Amino acid sequence: MAKAKTAYVCTECGAEHSKWQGQCVECGAWNTLSEIVVQPAAKSMAASRTGYAGAGGAAKVTKLATVAAEAERRSETGIGELDRVLGGGLVAGSVVLIGGDPGIGKSTLLLQMLGTLGQRVRGLYVTGEESLAQVASRGQRLGIALDGLEALAETSIERILGEASNAKPDVLIVDSIQTIWTELLTAAPGSVSQVRESAARLVRYAKESGTSVFLVGHVTKEGGIAGPRVLEHMVDAVLYFEGESGSRFRVLRAFKNRFGAVNELGVFAMGDKGLREVPNPSAIFLSAHAQPTAGSAVMVTREGTRPLLVEVQALVDQSSLGNPRRVALGLEQNRLAMLLAVLHRHGGAAVYDQDVFVNVVGGIRVQETAADLPVLLAVLSSFRDRPLPDKTVAFGEVGLSGEIRPVPNGEERLKEAATHGFRRAIVPKANAPKKNRIGEMEIIAVERLAEALQAARE
Ligand code: TYD
Ligand code: MG
Repeated sequence: MAKAKTAYVCTECGAEHSKWQGQCVECGAWNTLSEIVVQPAAKSMAASRTGYAGAGGAAKVTKLATVAAEAERRSETGIGELDRVLGGGLVAGSVVLIGGDPGIGKSTLLLQMLGTLGQRVRGLYVTGEESLAQVASRGQRLGIALDGLEALAETSIERILGEASNAKPDVLIVDSIQTIWTELLTAAPGSVSQVRESAARLVRYAKESGTSVFLVGHVTKEGGIAGPRVLEHMVDAVLYFEGESGSRFRVLRAFKNRFGAVNELGVFAMGDKGLREVPNPSAIFLSAHAQPTAGSAVMVTREGTRPLLVEVQALVDQSSLGNPRRVALGLEQNRLAMLLAVLHRHGGAAVYDQDVFVNVVGGIRVQETAADLPVLLAVLSSFRDRPLPDKTVAFGEVGLSGEIRPVPNGEERLKEAATHGFRRAIVPKANAPKKNRIGEMEIIAVERLAEALQAARE
């Protein structure tokens, strides 16, 4: 094979260099040059099946209304929670990147998916990390019928694509993208340029062949998927598989999805027979207290398309440091700092000399602002060492001037809380229904932080 032409591109500013050097001459950043394959111009048009170029080569300007919207060809995986996160099942020709800490269960999930897909589709599992014997023995332990499954232990992208074009799988799993390398580049497997080039080849393969491709990606210490950020742009969906160490529960979250809602959650429990779905996850994020405890509040968050009851805990304690600690687990740190300032100014509670720790139970990460009010209620409850009234839920965004702002889908959240036997809900006025009651649950509509704190004291 002729040696492909390569160049070096600065990952900071994108400047191209013909030779490697320590510092980018354009932007001055150090150690940012990474090797890339320079595609001959004709080859880079190979993505024609995706509609970038017409059959004749050149694309034409077209009226969108005359373009028949192509219905996505979807097939359900048979794992409901996975289908939910994917936006309704596998899409032919799509590329999904699954990231997560080592040992969280990425390989297990994908193998189980191949198992439930079973005979309906042809699956090929490419492993670059484990031997075929390890994959087979895991498959046996999971109770998967192995006779319909094909596997390949290989790390060279050229050979993987060669085998794939013979085997013609409907679903191709590559575990993991960091182990895959191309002969075109001299950089080591796992380096930015190798990961990017291998992923680009797999994306092209998926679009050309209509195969659904799953890439497993390692996660760096900072929590992103190792390798270039551009990996996230190349694929159709990015899913993160998360969970607290020591907890059985695993949460699959869509971070980006061209075919469905982001922030959709799928919940699983890891057992000795692999991952089991948890179709009604609200219960697991509530810790069972015999009596109400100080520092605990229950919120209704809405991740993706369903509401979820989640407990948030706070510990507020006299600080011995000049600069008291503000620790937020499962929430954004800056948001917590802002909320504490609002609590001081508009709620009359001065916690500037207190250490504040806030934790979202169950290892889930809440990204929406509906958590503001419950976080403040938990903080205040711990600060005053007084539990919130029993069976109380809350949600609502807290503004800088102390107003409680509405959040989307209020009614749905309230219904979820009522279903789980809550007796009282403290919610933004604009989210409250006309009647102040849903079933057994009393609804307290508030407009200002002070009103909410008052309601939580009764
Ligand atoms: P794995 O899928 O190998 O994780 P990843 O591919 O994300 O690195 O999962 C490995 C972990 O899951 C390991 O710690 C053992 C645990 N596990 C079970 O508890 N039960 C099972 O049935 C299986 C297959 C794994
Ligand atoms: Mg693995």
